[in-house]
Amino acid sequence: MSMYQFDRAAYEKRVAWFQEARFGMFIHWGLYAIPARGEWVRNIEEIDAETYDRYMEEFTARDYDPRQWARIAKEAGMRYVVLTAKHHDGFCLFDTATTDFKATNAPCRRDLVREFVEAVRAEGLKVGLYYSLLDWRHPDYPHYGDKFHPMRNNPAYSNESRDFNRYLDCMHTQVRELCTNYGRLDLLFFDFSYEDLRGEAWRGSQLADMVRKLQPGILLNNRLEVSGVGLGSLATEHPAPCHGDFVTPEQVIPPRGVVDEAGRPMVWEGCFTMNGNWGFHGTDRFFKPASMLIRKLVECVSKGGNMLLNVGPDRYGNIPEPSVEILREIGGWMRLNSESIYGCGRADLEKPDFGRVTQRGNKYYFHVFENTIGAIPISGLDREMVKRIRALSTGHEVRIVDHFTYANYPDVVFADLGPDPILPDQRDYVLEVEMREG
Ligand code: GLC
Repeated sequence: MSMYQFDRAAYEKRVAWFQEARFGMFIHWGLYAIPARGEWVRNIEEIDAETYDRYMEEFTARDYDPRQWARIAKEAGMRYVVLTAKHHDGFCLFDTATTDFKATNAPCRRDLVREFVEAVRAEGLKVGLYYSLLDWRHPDYPHYGDKFHPMRNNPAYSNESRDFNRYLDCMHTQVRELCTNYGRLDLLFFDFSYEDLRGEAWRGSQLADMVRKLQPGILLNNRLEVSGVGLGSLATEHPAPCHGDFVTPEQVIPPRGVVDEAGRPMVWEGCFTMNGNWGFHGTDRFFKPASMLIRKLVECVSKGGNMLLNVGPDRYGNIPEPSVEILREIGGWMRLNSESIYGCGRADLEKPDFGRVTQRGNKYYFHVFENTIGAIPISGLDREMVKRIRALSTGHEVRIVDHFTYANYPDVVFADLGPDPILPDQRDYVLEVEMREG
């Protein structure tokens, strides 16, 4: 294991699809959808296991239709989907030999992960699973005094008889089951490291090694080493064997993108809730509007990252209606403008004050969020090298204006959007600027 040699060429090949994809769906679903106060409800309300276990009796998954989920994702323009196979509460949506606390023992009697992976593949999307390293249900996981365990404040749950190695055996077995019984997985999202529980405390090298052997080409996130905070050892010159393949900022877009210690841009994926919770929440109606999420997707891409946008299906398995509506609207925009997203990344230009720029090869995509007075000023390009400008959504040609109004700014290319002072798409109107080669 000490022989681990990071292979950057192999790494870059492995992450290529992910950087092309740019947009994925996160799905948080489990027993916590029943109390419907978010997926940390056991922690926040310090609920004991016996009380929480009773939710299992109600878990019918009555409307669970992962084909529907996958279709919603696809129509939104998402290219991959990541489902919580197990969250911190320890409830497994998959069949496992390690515990009875699983979907196949609940009234639904279904292996929800199997149906999920098949449905997602059938829609031609990449398959990802989220797996919690924490397990608040396992008797050998630290209880009293742990930073997050629901029984952290209860001395009756002391840890004397707990054997963390036994927990690790179980956890490794569960990951092995996921990597063995469900066909090809494209991505595994571990969650998460904290305090001393990081890296080798999870037997991380062994775990990562097993996963990569069972699932050649799979992507791992960086949370065997860190959490939403921190980069992990991939940022250093000597990545550890359990290094992740991408950085996972959570509920924040890195203000300046993400670079490693040598200054190289890193692969990253920001994950975001649509309202204020990952798991279904009965009274959280504070959804981010589609127009905002479109711009935030663009912001991620313009900083070289992906967006993993979350939905929290209700107890029956329905994606909440506001989420469905928002995704439909994003999909409408993507159908006309996804060329400015897929395979695009940061541009070698300064951010314009009307919006943002993404780039792929010799094409720049100027995302106009804000009306300008008159033509759109495009800075940083050599006018002689501009081959053509098009409105991305319709493909119509956009002329460069030469009017005396603009004579004071000879180094700026002014793109003429015509007589209407209002942008044709106020959420984000995209201009494709194609440069001459060479
Ligand atoms: C956090 C939370 C968790 C959520 C995750 C998503 O780590 O613990 O509830 O699943 O973020 O990245």
